[in-house]
Amino acid sequence: MSPSAYVFPIVSSTSIFKADIFKGKVLFCTGGGSGICRGMTEAIMRHGANATIVGRKLDRLTQAAKELSEATGQVCVPAQADVRQPNTLKEAVTKTIEKFGRIDFVICGAAGNFLAPISAISENAFKTVMEIDTIGTFNTIKATIAHVRASKGSYIHVSATLHYNGTPYQVHVSAAKAGIDALSAVLAVEEGPHGVRSNVIAPGPISGTEGMDRLGPKAPTTRQPGYPAGREGDVKDIANAAVFLFSDAASYITGQVLPVDGGSEHLREGFLPYPQSVLDPASVANMIKGKL
Ligand code: COA
Repeated sequence: MSPSAYVFPIVSSTSIFKADIFKGKVLFCTGGGSGICRGMTEAIMRHGANATIVGRKLDRLTQAAKELSEATGQVCVPAQADVRQPNTLKEAVTKTIEKFGRIDFVICGAAGNFLAPISAISENAFKTVMEIDTIGTFNTIKATIAHVRASKGSYIHVSATLHYNGTPYQVHVSAAKAGIDALSAVLAVEEGPHGVRSNVIAPGPISGTEGMDRLGPKAPTTRQPGYPAGREGDVKDIANAAVFLFSDAASYITGQVLPVDGGSEHLREGFLPYPQSVLDPASVANMIKGKL
């Protein structure tokens, strides 16, 4: 029998950081109604912050805000907005200021994704993801920067690791996330002298998220990618990174990209066989959850 790999533990930030490190602080999080952005919001609220979560679907946001408030004992406000429409974002910011009077932390997390080859993806599909991810991040920065300057606050942008290599069927997201990494670096340099920090979290595959449901391998028929950390990521792994980056423990960290992927970026191992997957997409159709 071959020896089994060590599996790195999943921990909660509250077992590491004090409960009140974000007392009196306010978070503004796009994409906060679900997935890793909701997980980051919950963790930051558990350390004393109030929050506004922003998204397109009011029903989902309202339910998530109620659950987040109940779980943490803090106040969470739902604000309906589309990051592609600056005016709706500005309204969400106004709602936040009217409710809480300040914004300290911003998570630019709203994103769109699907699998599609360059040869088949439509111009509009490419543009749509660029507009949600990259331009949406820019619009969020524009709508919030005056308030984040005033509080000497901090940004976290959600990127990815897939553009470090040429990841098949991800041209739109690769281009969009590379743009986000660049935006954050400029923000750190321009706004650092005003007291604002900006960093990027680059998650690897995270269990139980919409992204994994839409993009992940179809188990158990597909070869699973390996992880130096012995397991797929958990929402808590990303939340812990966000708590650290917003905390004063990271006060000298700005303009950085932090992959939170259990070391998997260094393996460069996709779950689809190459070059079979690009020469004959139909032959791998039963290995993936999404449609090509
Ligand atoms: N494959 C290929 N093209 C796709 C696609 C897919 N799975 N899904 C959408 N598109 C294309 C559409 O066909 C359209 O292009 P067209 O006008 O040339 O036909 C374009 O993308 C815009 O799609 P539309 O549905 O009108 O945009 P939307 O704003 O309603 O949807 C998306 C946004 C595209 C991101 C949608 O996939 C979505 O809402 N996803 C849910 C959130 C998500 O993806 N989260 C990811 C977490 S990692």
